[in-house]
Amino acid sequence: MFSVKAQVESGYLTSVPPNYVFDNSNEYISSEAEMIPTIDVSLLTSGTPDQRSKVIQDIGNACRDWGFFQEINHGVPETLRDEMLRGCQSFFNLTEEEKKEFSGKQLFDPISYGTSFNTNVDKAFFWRDYLKVWVHPSYTAPHKPAGFSETVQEFCKRSREVASELMRGISESLGLEESYIQKRFDFELASQLLVVNLYPPCPEPDVAIGLPPHTDHGLLTLLMQNELSGLQVMHNGKWVPVNDPPPNSFLVNIGDHMEILTNGKYKSVVHRAMVNNKETRVSIGTAQGPPLDAVVSPAPELVDCESHNTAYRGIKYREYLVLQKSNQLQWKSCLDHLRI
Ligand code: OGA
Ligand code: NI
Repeated sequence: MFSVKAQVESGYLTSVPPNYVFDNSNEYISSEAEMIPTIDVSLLTSGTPDQRSKVIQDIGNACRDWGFFQEINHGVPETLRDEMLRGCQSFFNLTEEEKKEFSGKQLFDPISYGTSFNTNVDKAFFWRDYLKVWVHPSYTAPHKPAGFSETVQEFCKRSREVASELMRGISESLGLEESYIQKRFDFELASQLLVVNLYPPCPEPDVAIGLPPHTDHGLLTLLMQNELSGLQVMHNGKWVPVNDPPPNSFLVNIGDHMEILTNGKYKSVVHRAMVNNKETRVSIGTAQGPPLDAVVSPAPELVDCESHNTAYRGIKYREYLVLQKSNQLQWKSCLDHLRI
């Protein structure tokens, strides 16, 4: 299976090959200038008590109403983000032969370089090459290009700290004690998966897709990207494009396991990645999840005792990932398996 990058660089593509044709109905694009909320998270640690409770309220509202927010003043230096973006671009610029060394065969292989989502089950292929690395609790990263592994390690460590702070804010926004989410799992063993997406320019962007409508599997995803837009978020039945994210921001979104843990109070929201015909778009996500062997079920505090309204059955995170990978990536199909 050739990478999209190699096919595009061969110079022969003037149209989308038939096995990449994807019906992406565009009729629900939001025409209103709706904006994903922006949250200044520095106020969680350095604000006055009033500012802090206002931010917690804002986090709660954003999680409930959007499942997405732009996070600013998170403390990860812009220089590190730039270095990470450059490092990821250099990784994809290795030769196909060099990258082949990293093509994992199994879902839980520490490093996997590949294309589309799962070429064994994808009905149409996606216009996307990827690098996935399990970076926590044990750390590995490609040993090429030079210096890349060190950058990945530092970047992922810093984003893990940002995510921990957010988990505290999210716990409080649910009326739980600050360390509730962290205490529910052995956070030393919490999993963190780095996903780097490369979307090369596409000759006919309207008939292919980078990533189809889906939700993310973990608790929280933090995403950053180069200067090109392409992400769209489903909000009130319409696709809202995420254009011009604030400088040095992370886009944060609720994953399926946060939906399970909060018994549906905060929902994982469907999103998709569109492609363009001009330049290569790169996005870098870190999925913060529970430990792979943790069984996640709704927090009893968030289940209404009288009606016993538990909405999801518990499942091992590891098994959930197997389920997701062996099915087509579409909408909320994987989470639907767990609904009671
Ligand atoms: C993902 C994802 C969006 C993007 O990697 O799960 O949704 O804009 N990426 O690349
Ligand atoms: Ni996603």
